[in-house]
Parts: sequence; structure tokens; C-alpha cells
Amino acid sequence: MERPCSVIVLAAGRGTRMKSSTPKVLFDVCGISSLEHVVRAARGIGAARLVIVLSKDARRLATASEALGATTVVQDPPLGTGHAVRLAVDALPATASGDVLVLYGDGPLFSAESLAKLLSHHRASGAAETLLTAEVENPSGLGRIVRASDGAVERIVEEIDADAATRSIREINTGILALTVEAAREQLPRLSNANRKGEYYLTDVVAALRASGQTVAAVPVADAREALTFNSIEELSRVRTEMRRRILVSHMENGVDIVDPSTTYIEVDVTIGAGTRILPMTVIAHGVTIGNDCVIGPMAQLREKTQLEDGVEIGNFVEVKKSRIGAKSKAKHLSYLGDAVLGKGVNVGCGTITANYDGKLKHETRIGDGSFVGSGTVLCAPAELERNAMTGAGAVVRPKSVVGESEVWVGVPARRLDEASARRKREGTGGSR
Ligand code: UD1
Ligand code: CA
Repeated sequence: MERPCSVIVLAAGRGTRMKSSTPKVLFDVCGISSLEHVVRAARGIGAARLVIVLSKDARRLATASEALGATTVVQDPPLGTGHAVRLAVDALPATASGDVLVLYGDGPLFSAESLAKLLSHHRASGAAETLLTAEVENPSGLGRIVRASDGAVERIVEEIDADAATRSIREINTGILALTVEAAREQLPRLSNANRKGEYYLTDVVAALRASGQTVAAVPVADAREALTFNSIEELSRVRTEMRRRILVSHMENGVDIVDPSTTYIEVDVTIGAGTRILPMTVIAHGVTIGNDCVIGPMAQLREKTQLEDGVEIGNFVEVKKSRIGAKSKAKHLSYLGDAVLGKGVNVGCGTITANYDGKLKHETRIGDGSFVGSGTVLCAPAELERNAMTGAGAVVRPKSVVGESEVWVGVPARRLDEASARRKREGTGGSR
């Protein structure tokens, strides 16, 4: 049977370098918090238990962590990563055995594959501790891996405590490691805080294990970009850039034609069908779903809870929020569609606005199959256009109006045209059916 594994996520650091009242690990990385990315990766390896270490004043974090199904432990005050892991290990049941896998809440880019690889190497090698390491261009601020002449990992030296020769090492401690519960229980209470920062460093466990004759193994991360973590907003921006790149690549691999990845922003959990083209400067929020063969952008924004069926076209300066748009419908220029349900083959004229907010509540707009919404129409929600309905340019459809099937409404406020005028209008605008 496989050795059991408990995952510990460290999230109690002060994050002072962020200069923000928001806890560091709750900063957004492409649609979800950094912490949620880490928890997802942890879930991906099927851990028996998940313990998140939090600071005392992070109430928001406790709620967020429990919502993610984790046990939380409060570290007050935060005395270092070694102290944090000790508290988490103390919170495990006395019968817990096997390993702990330590993850950091400020490292959202590690893949479940890398974590699984670390764990299987650790189990197979029989080491007391196994580190995930990376060779990086710029190691500044990170712990350096010091190896003995035979290549074995000897210790980790924090930058602040390192001399010039040690600083020139480019192999770094990603922070991620696997440790037997036994070694954790034995070594963590013995850590000292006699270092520049006056903290109990988790990293000192390496030298302690070596001194007691135990083995410490190391596994290089497959892609050094996974090892990006953040202590400042500037570093966070680099983490986001990498996450964004990864999301874009996965959509392109699925057959989505992203014309300019450098100006396209797609958050996590977005589904896009093959054959869809995303034109430059487009922003697509968390959880949006887009069918096959759609065209989005340039300069379009698809916000939360938007669903586009196949063949939809959303053009420049169009914002869509919490709306469902049926197959082959088009909104190609300068529109806002919010809380709307559109059928199939709807043409939304340039400058159409769903006025969905009355100052207190949001209301829905429904537009039936085959409708033709004239340029500059304002649809004051709640409002409905039944199938094949039409509005004239600049029409203002008042709240609670129902534009009946195949009717034509024009003006301010919009009123129904009689049959003969409606026929002339449809012929005159090419909107005939
Ligand atoms: C740490 C490592 C360093 C490694 C780097 C990788 C130590 C001593 N150093 O440095 O070797 O290269 O991560 O990113 O471990 N935290 C707590 N309680 C504490 C202190 C920190 O929960 O008392 C949490 C933080 O919220 C954070 C993580 O632990 O998620 C790492 O802490 P941080 O202060 O960012 O460590 P680094 O200085 O980056
Ligand atoms: Ca860090």
C-alpha cells in the first residue's frame, strides 16, 4: 500500500513586502486566489489530509480555506516556516504516519504532476526528506542549495545568511518538499532561530538530518517557471504573466486561434471550443464558456457567467456579463449585454445597451430567436423581445415591455408600429423575414 501523505500549506507569513492589507496568498492570479491554485494542485495528488497554516488576523483566509475543504491552524505570531510546519504537524492525529508534503501559498504555479513526481521519488528513494529544486536565471531572494563534492544535498542557505560564493549558486529551494512524519516530529522542535531574520527556518531541517546520518534527496522541477513565487506586487505580476501564458497555450493546443497572445487575457476555468478565433486585446473572465467557431474581439470583454453557443460573434468594444447568447447571434460593435438571454441568430445592432440596473436591482433582458435589434437601442430591463422582433435605431424600450413576435417597435419611448409601417420598415432596412 502507498504511504499516506498529508499536505501542509503555509499561508501565515506577514507578506509585508506586498504593502497591502489583503493577505498575500489571497491576491488574484488569473481569476482565483494564489491559495486556491495551491489547494487545487494539492487536491490533484489525492492527499489524505490538507492543513493550512494561517495568521491570526486572517479571518478572510480562514473562511476561504474552510470553503476549500481544509483544516486550518493559526500561527500567532509567525515565527518562520519551520515553526509553521511544526504547528501543522502537531495538529495531525497522533496516529498519522507516512509523509507530509509542504506547499507555500505564494507558489501557485506548481503543477500536480511535479508534486506527484516529488512524492513518488521521495517514497521510492527512502530519503527522510526530498526537496523540489530549480535552476533559475535570477536566484535573488531565494534559498540556495549547497551540495557536497559527491553531489548530495548538504544544506540550504537563505540569501540573507549567504556569503558571496553561496549567492552565486543558481540552484534554489522552491520551498516545496516532502518529509517523513517521523523526521518532522523529531527535527522541527529542535530548530534554532539564531539567524539574521531570527526565524525558525524549515530549510535548516536539511543540515540537521544530514548531521544525524539521514538522507536528503532532491528532484529538479521539470520547468523552472513553475518555481516562480511572489513576495512583492512586482513579483506577483511575473507570476500572473506565467499563469496567463500557460492558460493561453492550453487553449491554443485545443485548437483555439489566439491571434495575439501578448494582448489576450483569459482567466482559469474558461472553456473555448475549437475553431474559435480570439482577436487582440480581448479579456475573458473566470468560468466563461464559449462554443466552437466563434469570433471574439478585438477589444471585447466577456465577464463572469457568460455563455456563448457555437458561431457567436462578439466584436469591438462589446462587454458581455452574466448572459447566454444563442448560436450564430452577433453583437459586433459598441454594446453592453448584461443579465441577458439571447436566442439563436439574433442581430444586436451597434451601440445596443441592456440597461439592466435600476439603481437597486439587476433585471433580465430576453431576446428571442431571429430578432433584429436596431442600432443604439436601449433595452430597459426587465424587457423582452419575442422571436423575430425588431426595434428601430435609437429605440428606448421601457421596463416591462414585451415586443411581440415579429413586431416592430420604434422611437422614444418605443411604441409598436402598425402592420403596414412595420412592413415598410423591415423592407427599408433589409431586416425583412
Ligand atoms: C522561503 C524559503 C526559501 C525558498 C523560498 C521559495 C525558508 C526559510 N525559506 O523563503 O529557501 O527559496 O521560500 O519561495 O523557508 N509562512 C508562514 N509562517 C511564517 C513564515 C512564512 O506560514 O512564519 C508562509 C508564508 O505565508 C509563505 C511561505 O510560508 O506562503 C514562505 O514564506 P516567505 O516569507 O515568503 O519565505 P521566503 O523568504 O520567500
Ligand atoms: Ca516567498
